[in-house]
This record gives sequence, structure tokens and C-alpha cells, in this order.
Amino acid sequence: MSEYNITLLKGDGIGPEITESVADIIEAIGIKINWDVCLAGKEAIEKYQEVLPKKTLESIEKNRIVLKAPIATPIGFGFPSVNVALRRHFDLYANIRPSKNLPGIKTPFSDVNLVIIRENTEDIYAGMEKEVEKDTIHGIKLITRFASERICNFAFRYAVKNNRNEVGVVTKANISKLADGMFLNSYRKVSKNYPAIKTREILVDNLCMQLVQNPSQFDVLVMPNLYGDIVSDLCAGLIGGLGVAQSANIGDNCAIFEAVHGTAPDIAGKGIANPTGLLRSAVMMLDYIGENKKAKKIEDALFEVLKESKKLTSDLGGKSSTKEFTNEIIKKLSTV
Ligand code: NAI
Repeated sequence: MSEYNITLLKGDGIGPEITESVADIIEAIGIKINWDVCLAGKEAIEKYQEVLPKKTLESIEKNRIVLKAPIATPIGFGFPSVNVALRRHFDLYANIRPSKNLPGIKTPFSDVNLVIIRENTEDIYAGMEKEVEKDTIHGIKLITRFASERICNFAFRYAVKNNRNEVGVVTKANISKLADGMFLNSYRKVSKNYPAIKTREILVDNLCMQLVQNPSQFDVLVMPNLYGDIVSDLCAGLIGGLGVAQSANIGDNCAIFEAVHGTAPDIAGKGIANPTGLLRSAVMMLDYIGENKKAKKIEDALFEVLKESKKLTSDLGGKSSTKEFTNEIIKKLSTV
């Protein structure tokens, strides 16, 4: 049996509860992972006076694969976002957020099956904000040709590998003529190398309206960082909310898999958090390391539990605890 070394960031709030659930399910399917548990965020500041301590960075550099639970970031003040810092440090330029309907979860649309590919390193997340004079802030939206072509290439390669038919590009190039204009031109250039994949250009405001009216028309969508951040949460809403959505941050040498929701401080420590988002991110991680069959089995077991809807956490309308939900998935592993 193969063994894997993976860095684990248990995060804040509900993080430790949902990582325990996911680790239990992975152990139950028979994949041996040596979790290297490291600190980041508030706990790391308390212990090492650093958001991302050297030990954590060294572990990620060595293992190259991370499972990460949500980490609290102060809003409008305080230390910088760990997520943004990690993405920048390890050049995790592609954020993948698939949205597909789940069994047993009723939503307004039953035929959603799209993937957001978000550029993960630039835009307003480059952290270039300053007060140029009293009460006047300049915030720079950074877009480079290099990063734009890189993410568009990634999106088209993703479409080919995953048997997708279309890659659409999302911008606001009618207003941001230089920055989004260059992103759009990069997409047009890259798309010529993939003649079998259909193309489509759409402005972000129109996209939002179309997504809440007829989401099934979309396939793979590639976009700059800020639009991707916002639109991917909208898409999570289409399939049942943040608690069930998964994501991966991929670079050329490293990958971080994480749930998209936050630390849920309102329910932390109560044992009722839904681990589905992190579990589905772990399924993406297992696919990435080549454990495709077992990844599929975990997904099938999860879908079976969701379909039966007997043991669900309260955010999905059930009464079960995280532990009961987890045990039900583990039980199903032997039947799927
Ligand atoms: P949140 O996602 O933590 O919570 C929003 C609502 O969804 C709450 O009612 C919460 O109970 C519920 N919820 C979220 N995940 C759930 C789960 N797995 N099971 C059941 N219910 C769940 O968003 P909020 O309150 O805006 O952020 C709280 C903290 O999380 C902030 O410090 C924020 O910076 C951080 N955060 C971290 C992220 C990350 O590390 N990737 C992403 C988003 C937020």
C-alpha cells in the first residue's frame, strides 16, 4: 500500500472538527497518509509570532500537498489573509471550483454542472493598496499577460482532460479596457491552440444574471481573481451552499485543497459542522495523487448518505452530529 506525506492545516473554528472527520474517512478506505500537522493564522501568531511560520512553509515545500481547513482572517484590519499568502508564496495560480448538483439536496436548478477556474495570484489580491492622501485610497488591480495566458492555458487543458466542451471567459473588458482587455486577448490567443473546445465571451454582470436564471448553459469558465472569488460563491449557492462546495489551488509544484466556507464561529465546538466541503476537497486531493478509485468510492458513499437524507447535519436540514454523519459515510464505504 502506498503511503503519502501530506501537510495538514486544521484551521480555526470548526476546522479541527471537520478535519478529524475527513481523516477518519480516508483512513477507513485504507489510504495511509502521514499527516504533518502544522499551524497557520491566529494560533501560529500566538506560538511563533508569524502568520505562516517557517516550519509550516518547510513542511509544504517538502510534501507539496496540503489539506487545509478554514482559517480566520480579521476583516478590515489585522494580519493578512493566510489563504492569499499561501497562494502567493507557492504560486498556486489556478483555483478550481466545480459546481454540480448533489443527490438529495434540493435547489432551484437540477442540471448545474460547471467549473470556475479563477486566476489566483493577481488582481486586487496583489495587496497593492495605499492611502495617497488623507481619505483617498488607491487600490491597484494587477493583471499581467504572463498570468492571464497561464490561467487560460490551464483552463483549456482542464477542459480537454475532463472531457468538457466549452471554456468561456468572464471579464468586464467594456470598462476595464486595458487590464481585463489584456485578459480577454490572452484568452483569445490561447483558445486558438484548442480548436476542439468551444469558446464564449461574457461580461461578469451579465454572467451573474444568467447564472441565476439558466446555469446549465455554462461549462468551464475562466476569469480574473476578484470575479472568480464572487462568482464561485454564487455557484456554490446553486448547488446547496458553501458547506458542500470543494476547491483546489493548483500550482506547477504544489497543491492546496480546501473547503470554500469559513471557520463558522457560530457553531464551532458544538460538533454539528458539516464536513462535506472539506471531504469533497479531499476527494479532489486523492484524485490528484492518483488514488482515483478510492476517491470515487468516498464520493459515492457521501452521495449515498446525502441521497438517503436520514443522517444529515443541521445546515442540510438534518439532526445528526458531525460524528454521526461521518460514521454513516464510513458505513456506506463497504456497500458502494
Ligand atoms: P462562514 O463560512 O464561516 O459562515 C457563514 C455561515 O455558514 C455560518 O452561519 C456558518 O455556521 C455556516 N457554515 C459555514 N461552514 C459550515 C459547515 N461546514 N457546516 C455547517 N455550517 C457552516 O463565513 P464567515 O462567518 O463570513 O467567516 C468566518 C471566518 O472565516 C472569518 O474569519 C473569515 O475570514 C474566515 N474565512 C476563511 C476562509 C478560508 O480559510 N478559506 C474562507 C472564508 C472565510
